[in-house]
Amino acid sequence: MTGKRSIVVTPALPYANGPIHIGHLVEYSLPDFWVRFQRMRGHTVHFVCAADTHGTPIMMNAKKQGITPESLVERFRTEHMETFKKFEISFDHYGSTNSPTNKKISDRIFKALDNKKLLETKTQMQAYCETDGMFLPDRYIKGTCPKCGSVDQYGDGCEVCGTVYSAADLKNPHCSICGRTPIEKASEHLFVKLEDFRPYLKEWVPEHTSPEVAKKLAEWFDGELQSWCISRDDPYFGFEIPGHPHKYYYVWFDAPIGYLAALEESLKGGDFDTLWNDPKTEIYHSIGKDIVYHHALFWPSMLKSADLATPTGIWVHGMLQVNGAKMSKSRGTSVFATTFQKHLDPVYLRYYLACKMSSSIDDIDLNFDDFVSRVNSDLIGKITNVASRGAQMLQKLGGAMGELSSEAKELVIKAQDLGDEIAQCYEEREFAKAMILIRSIADDANKYFDKYEPWKLVKTDEAATRQILTGILNQFRIMAIYLKPVMPSYAAKVEALFQEPGYLWESSKMIIENHTLAPFEHLLKRVEPAQVEKILEETKKIHAANAPAVDPLKALALQPTISIDDFQKIDLRVARIAAAQHVEGAGKLLQLTLDLGNGVTRNVFSGIKSAYKPEDLVGKMTVMVANLAPRKMKFGVSEGMVLASGDGENIALLFPDTKAEPGQRIN
Ligand code: 2FM
Ligand code: ZN
Repeated sequence: MTGKRSIVVTPALPYANGPIHIGHLVEYSLPDFWVRFQRMRGHTVHFVCAADTHGTPIMMNAKKQGITPESLVERFRTEHMETFKKFEISFDHYGSTNSPTNKKISDRIFKALDNKKLLETKTQMQAYCETDGMFLPDRYIKGTCPKCGSVDQYGDGCEVCGTVYSAADLKNPHCSICGRTPIEKASEHLFVKLEDFRPYLKEWVPEHTSPEVAKKLAEWFDGELQSWCISRDDPYFGFEIPGHPHKYYYVWFDAPIGYLAALEESLKGGDFDTLWNDPKTEIYHSIGKDIVYHHALFWPSMLKSADLATPTGIWVHGMLQVNGAKMSKSRGTSVFATTFQKHLDPVYLRYYLACKMSSSIDDIDLNFDDFVSRVNSDLIGKITNVASRGAQMLQKLGGAMGELSSEAKELVIKAQDLGDEIAQCYEEREFAKAMILIRSIADDANKYFDKYEPWKLVKTDEAATRQILTGILNQFRIMAIYLKPVMPSYAAKVEALFQEPGYLWESSKMIIENHTLAPFEHLLKRVEPAQVEKILEETKKIHAANAPAVDPLKALALQPTISIDDFQKIDLRVARIAAAQHVEGAGKLLQLTLDLGNGVTRNVFSGIKSAYKPEDLVGKMTVMVANLAPRKMKFGVSEGMVLASGDGENIALLFPDTKAEPGQRIN
């Protein structure tokens, strides 16, 4: 692409319902690297974002805190803007989906859908809490998992066995707010007839997503596309739908419209249409893989119905894992951005993320040990070291650079020549590859420096030393320019050192000779593992302090109450383990012969092999369920069950007091 490009870029809009954590920072850093690169190339970029403000969770959170949803979202919006500034995310505008602009554009798109008969109304039965006076989204209904029987599970899926279901499938459903049983109540809703867009979307998706994403999405088009419900009932924090009193746009309807509203507000006068619909404008949405459905199906359909341009590309990235696992509050790996920033300069995280990011949808792992070693060995030990070695020694020689030797010139030209390849990597969001190429310049520079040993040479030949230092400082300057999209504050320090404000990509094409440097100031310190420890410790503390008070009975996940009669049905007996042996071919089982006294024995297969050796059990007393229906197993019939605690890993058999005799009943 030649000439000046005009580009709109948006990341996903964060919910204004909690602090920004390091997982979010992947979302915002990635497009920021790209946007900053494009600006350095002289292109016009509109990088806009907004607070995602509507929906039930925000409404309920505000209620819990005794404040209005408006003030809650405004508080988080302000907090998020401050955080983004600290992490050098260069938004041109940060709006709110709860703005008049967003209301205006939402109504416009809704009317377009309506006029084109792309909406339908359907009545559906939904869980309704009479106490709270509201329809309950699946997340607000709890109950017993229909699959594994775990109690206190959410209506959208079981956290214990991982089954996904809808709230209607839960056993003993209850409202998560007040605990009462919801009723079923009918409500009429508005739906977008997605199926009408299917032929269009089927072509659109592969043209506007990567082949990797398109391949995954192809199966969507195998069956009929279900209509999408875009209305919610009162009470709801959102925009009321014109002509439909007490009905509100579902948060996911007006959220992406927030992109348009933020763009319009950023233009300060006029509407967004001219820029958005200009065929020369490129539009990119950068999103996580969890919200592809909304951006690749709903969003283009909404835009198309209103005769608005659809995005040029949807960039999908993976999710952030920390130390190889999902972020966890208890392990302290769900780190808030503000906690990180309190102990470490955000530039470290930006660099590390760039080293891990590509255009693929693979998850990104932030391993804190790797983080410390990579930052220290590469960013400090290799890259920054070039500047400290060069500039500090030059300072002692008065601070003036000389001219390049022919060998140094070759190396500098080599670094310059890498510029196009690095630019291509940035363009394609292959940031990790760009970082590798940039580090190769540092390797060249350090090798060159070590070869001539200027720390010795300086004693005998100042001029030659100055030449060497001029060489590596040119190499360093070029690296700083290439790193500027990822580390703008770092590049700013380099600009100050070279007394050249405002590096553009083009600036790398210059060779600097006979130039005086500003006094050298340290660019960046090593990261100490103790700093990371502090971040993790503090994170644990924050989450522990914020953890909701645990209902101890719920935490135990007790089974429903039974009567004494129910209990009496279970015939528990003391039994002596008369024999115990391994079962050939059974990885977990031991075969036990249990003596119940009076010459009665039982054969029982028990999954306790991981915890006990047969010889250690023989002669011991234990407890068994004596009236359990015999069960035919692969290895024989099991005539009962011994009692043991443990979750399959930490098995402990029950042993009664030594006074107990075989055959005695337990009650
Ligand atoms: O998933 C989320 O966090 C949403 N707040 C993203 C919205 S993106 C856009 F559609 F607004
Ligand atoms: Zn309720």
